[in-house]
Amino acid sequence: MSAQLEEVPRIRQMLVKDLDAVVLIEREVFLFPWTKGNFGDSISSGYYCYVLEMGNHIFGYGVMTIGADEAHILTLSVASEWQREGWGEKLLHYFISLSKENNACSIFLEVRKSNLGAAKLYEQIGFRQVGARVGYYPAMGGREDAIVMELIL
Ligand SMILES: CC(C)(COP(=O)(O)OP(=O)(O)OC[C@H]1O[C@@H](n2cnc3c(N)ncnc32)[C@H](O)[C@@H]1OP(=O)(O)O)[C@@H](O)C(=O)NCCC(=O)NCCS
Repeated sequence: MSAQLEEVPRIRQMLVKDLDAVVLIEREVFLFPWTKGNFGDSISSGYYCYVLEMGNHIFGYGVMTIGADEAHILTLSVASEWQREGWGEKLLHYFISLSKENNACSIFLEVRKSNLGAAKLYEQIGFRQVGARVGYYPAMGGREDAIVMELIL
């Protein structure tokens, strides 16, 4: 008798073997992507690195640090064909839970001024703008400001 196991998307820790798939998505969604080395360094530094996976298919990921009582989300992405299905929000809630478990009092992140979709998601979850960094990001033909957002836990 064979049982058909239903495949359900899940969140799990990012491993070195995931990095090719992660970097493919990174290059798809960002004009100025992180390198495979950046992700590898994040894993080896003990950052909180997680992927979204369906079967053997990676379709999103995020990286967060926690130091003292502050967490910092360094990157968060969902592959284009999986966007607007609630996965970015699920991964964010996962990071919020991890931060609380590790006694963080707040979570910070930066978002490009032009990235209105991501900013809307963060605001809906409760992040508020607490500052800006002028010319923080590279951009086509110049630099772009970052909005700094904080979620108080
Ligand atoms: C930003 C990102 C992570 C959001 O992930 P996602 O899985 O698409 O988002 P969700 O489905 O969880 O969105 C939840 C809610 O956030 C808001 N939202 C998310 N993306 C949005 C967009 N592009 N435009 C407007 N609202 C958006 C909506 O209110 C959405 O609810 P709805 O779909 O019912 O309207 C994803 O779009 C992404 O990877 N973008 C490219 C990389 C990037 O910009 N990363 C963030 C760097 S700071």
